[in-house]
Amino acid sequence: MKFTVVIVMRRSNWLFWLLCLLLLVPCAYARDVSQADGNLLLTPNHGQGEAWGKARCINCHVMRRLHNSVPEIKEIVENKGFATCTGCHGKNGTQAIQQCLICHNVNDLPANPPRTGKHRHDFNLKKDLPTTSAQCVMCHAASDMDGVFEVRQDLTLFNDKLVGTRAYKDVNDFCVRCHNNGHQQKKWPIKNAGKRDQSKLAEENYLFVDKHGVSDTEKVESSLYPGLRDGYVYNSIVDCVDCHTMHGTENAGLIIDNSLKGVFLLNPALRKQGIAVEILDGVNTNNELVDIADYSQLCVLCHDMQIDNENKQKYGGNHDTGNGLSGVHFEYGSDCVTCHSHGERVQKGL
Ligand code: HEC
Ligand code: HEC
Ligand code: HEC
Ligand code: HEC
Ligand code: HEC
Ligand code: HEC
Ligand code: HEC
Ligand code: HEC
Repeated sequence: MKFTVVIVMRRSNWLFWLLCLLLLVPCAYARDVSQADGNLLLTPNHGQGEAWGKARCINCHVMRRLHNSVPEIKEIVENKGFATCTGCHGKNGTQAIQQCLICHNVNDLPANPPRTGKHRHDFNLKKDLPTTSAQCVMCHAASDMDGVFEVRQDLTLFNDKLVGTRAYKDVNDFCVRCHNNGHQQKKWPIKNAGKRDQSKLAEENYLFVDKHGVSDTEKVESSLYPGLRDGYVYNSIVDCVDCHTMHGTENAGLIIDNSLKGVFLLNPALRKQGIAVEILDGVNTNNELVDIADYSQLCVLCHDMQIDNENKQKYGGNHDTGNGLSGVHFEYGSDCVTCHSHGERVQKGL
């Protein structure tokens, strides 16, 4: 008489191997793909190896039987069909394209992420290239798409000459694996930037110079225009993505054009209002426009001068920056960047 016992258990569980050994049965193992484990990518074990390298998922899988344990995903996958499979489960050893935009577009998932605006992180400084799913995959090689963004799960782990594949501490750690001088990714070099460009100096500035980076040693008491909005505190790190968005903006340099695209710690009641951020040309004392960059509307999302009202008035702290918020010092005809830019060592920089 022939019979099979099927033990369904994770292969990583020692009990699994013990039972297999004791019962001397061929072991069928539990799924590799699971949202709880954060792994959706197929491996050469797919269908006991038989299904690896096969592109036509429809040949073996029946749509309505899939994804019963993940209702948030089931519906959208059924609507979009078999073109989506490799987007979440990887290429399965084929040359198939991994589709992202089929779901992550303005109609289906408009807020996740917000992708409006003509500039985006297209890996090219000189041109605005069209967005492709391949760009998304560069940064998100193995997202578990559970609705929660997690640095360690949802960002591609780049191998770095200096630190190898050490897990990211935070999102900035991810950015500086490419935005550095001397140990860039071979596959994604910074090609179009000069030596002094922030694209190359970001790491150094973030680690040693910038006030928003890790070099936060000074106390605030001595500051001229102190005050931060609810959600932000002194002696902390401000993430690159609080100010820069990867997914789409009207502003140059990928500066967010709306509070919903960055400032992640800002009091939700304020952030959710979708406060606009426009980088304005400056005005001189005659109220004429001059060609300089006024970042007030960005800075004022987090900074809110808290000093006595007379001085506040004097320094322009009551001046509406144009998006409804006030609280940064207003320098007539001044380019904020002359005193506040990445790597600026005097005047407190950026
Ligand atoms: C030749 C048949 C065949 C093809 C083609 C096929 N699969 Fe599978 N797949 C299987 C079998 C068999 C299993 C294991 C039984 C099950 O879970 O249904 C499986 C399991 C899976 C699993 C769960 C794996 C795990 O370890 O948890 C996923 C996800 C999956 N397939 C996705 C795909 C995708 C995506 C494609 C197309 C790129 C595809 N399959 C093409 C046969 C196939
Ligand atoms: C939006 C991401 C996403 C897409 C697209 C997607 N899946 Fe899945 N799939 C998942 C998740 C998440 C799980 C794990 C469910 C769990 O943890 O129980 C899963 C699990 C599976 C499984 C294991 C059995 C099950 O139903 O849970 C199979 C088989 C599978 N997917 C096949 C497919 C096929 C075929 C397609 C294309 C029609 C597809 N998937 C498209 C996210 C996706
Ligand atoms: C240069 C790297 C990079 C590229 C390219 C990129 N992303 Fe992101 N993505 C990030 C980072 C960093 C975050 C976390 C900060 C944020 O939410 O803006 C993120 C967050 C997300 C989120 C979570 C948003 C939320 O608030 O929960 C989604 C969804 C997403 N990305 C999808 C995409 C899609 C789709 C594409 C392609 C159009 C893409 N990303 C391209 C780096 C990138
Ligand atoms: C079948 C539709 C579908 C496809 C295809 C798809 N996604 Fe998603 N994705 C989702 C859904 C649904 C969510 C969760 C949204 C939510 O609940 O807020 C999500 C969430 C995300 C997140 C946010 C982090 C997280 O864990 O939730 C990222 C990043 C992301 N997707 C990247 C991608 C990338 C990159 C691709 C292409 C390789 C892709 N997605 C393909 C539907 C899809
Ligand atoms: C995989 C490598 C890689 C990662 C990771 C990466 N970038 Fe980039 N980034 C590039 C490349 C390449 C360019 C274009 C440089 C060029 O054309 O010379 C670029 C350009 C930029 C630009 C200038 C864009 C413009 O059009 O003005 C900004 C700003 C930027 N990145 C910020 C970030 C931030 C913030 C992160 C982290 C959330 C990040 N990058 C992660 C490789 C990367
Ligand atoms: C002439 C140089 C100069 C220019 C131009 C300038 N600032 Fe400043 N900024 C300073 C100095 C000095 C400080 C205070 C440093 C200190 O307190 O030690 C400061 C501080 C700040 C702070 C931090 C307040 C805090 O929390 O301590 C913000 C925000 C700020 N400036 C915004 C702006 C904006 C927006 C512009 C452009 C409209 C601008 N600055 C233009 C010199 C300048
Ligand atoms: C996402 C929120 C946020 C935005 C946007 C922001 N800042 Fe800040 N800023 C902070 C936080 C938080 C600190 C405190 C950092 C620390 O002490 O470690 C800070 C500190 C500073 C300091 C040093 C203050 C001191 O006394 O040490 C200056 C100067 C500054 N910011 C200028 C600016 C300028 C100029 C802009 C706009 C271009 C800006 N910030 C945009 C959150 C932000
Ligand atoms: C507080 C807001 C803020 C934070 C945080 C921030 N940046 Fe910036 N970034 C700016 C502003 C404002 C500019 C334009 C002025 C300048 O060049 O310094 C800029 C410029 C840049 C540029 C040049 C863009 C171009 O096209 O010329 C790059 C690249 C860049 N930042 C990368 C980063 C990286 C990487 C991080 C995190 C390590 C980061 N930034 C953190 C506000 C910020």
